[in-house]
Amino acid sequence: MIRGLTGLSEEIVQKVFLYIAVISIAILVLITFLMIYFTYRYHRKRNPDPKDIRGNLWLEILWTVIPTLLVLSMFYYGWTGFHILRKVPEGALKVNVSARTWSWLFEYENGIKTTELYVPENRPVHLRLSSLDVIHSFYIPAFRVKQDAVPGMTTSLWFRAKEIGTYDVLCAEYCGQQHAYMLTKVRVLTEEEFHRWYEEKEKELEKERRRGLPRGERLILEKGCLACHSTDGTPRVGPTLKGIFGKTVTVITEGRERQIQVDEEYLLRSLLEPNADLVKGFQPIMPPQKGISTAEEIKELVRYMKELR
Ligand code: CUA
Repeated sequence: MIRGLTGLSEEIVQKVFLYIAVISIAILVLITFLMIYFTYRYHRKRNPDPKDIRGNLWLEILWTVIPTLLVLSMFYYGWTGFHILRKVPEGALKVNVSARTWSWLFEYENGIKTTELYVPENRPVHLRLSSLDVIHSFYIPAFRVKQDAVPGMTTSLWFRAKEIGTYDVLCAEYCGQQHAYMLTKVRVLTEEEFHRWYEEKEKELEKERRRGLPRGERLILEKGCLACHSTDGTPRVGPTLKGIFGKTVTVITEGRERQIQVDEEYLLRSLLEPNADLVKGFQPIMPPQKGISTAEEIKELVRYMKELR
């Protein structure tokens, strides 16, 4: 490890960035200065008889060796930093991250799921990323970390947050219509606050499981439905879910328009094959829940939508 690299991603990236920037600026200034100076110094007026100069061994050695060393030092510095960024320290808090169009879901080891990332300060956090559909990229600008979430494989990322606070999470890979809104937050808590939160959430979850409470409201959040559907009547990329049950809508079935009344069967079909009866005026962009949600989850979602007045 290079001296001065603490293992904080933001510091590593910052230092390498500064190092490369300073060298680049110095070279830019030197070359610009020489260009201007030579134009002046060797102008026809001051230098009427041009001389044909062929080769200068020392000069050539110098301008080969110095840039080579500079570039190699940049590589070394960058590579060492990269190595630290790739090597997850032991005892890191593990969180699974699922990306889908267009939201993030975080899953902790005790089973709790959230749409915002909660982490304790000063402890390494190991994120294991995957995607349910297209390629997304998990990006926390404040921590200088970014990693693609790719369908069919698991990628990983780690960071250590040194300051309590709330930071933005962005998607940094164009993933369709709502890409720019694929935002969430990472909330850094004190160790103590984090533990309290962690245990509280775990208890809530257990209570729900034990009592078999309806989980619709939780599912609609966890499944990322709210990225495109509102529950308060506001139109978004998809139709609002408010009062959807019993409504008469115009849908497009196999290219033909028809009117239907939203019933249980229609809701079920819309979850499994969203484009089969597409509501007129909307794009066929919803990911089918077949294989993504379980039959029980689908049933809960339908029940929830039926009751959403
Ligand atoms: Cu997900 Cu852009």
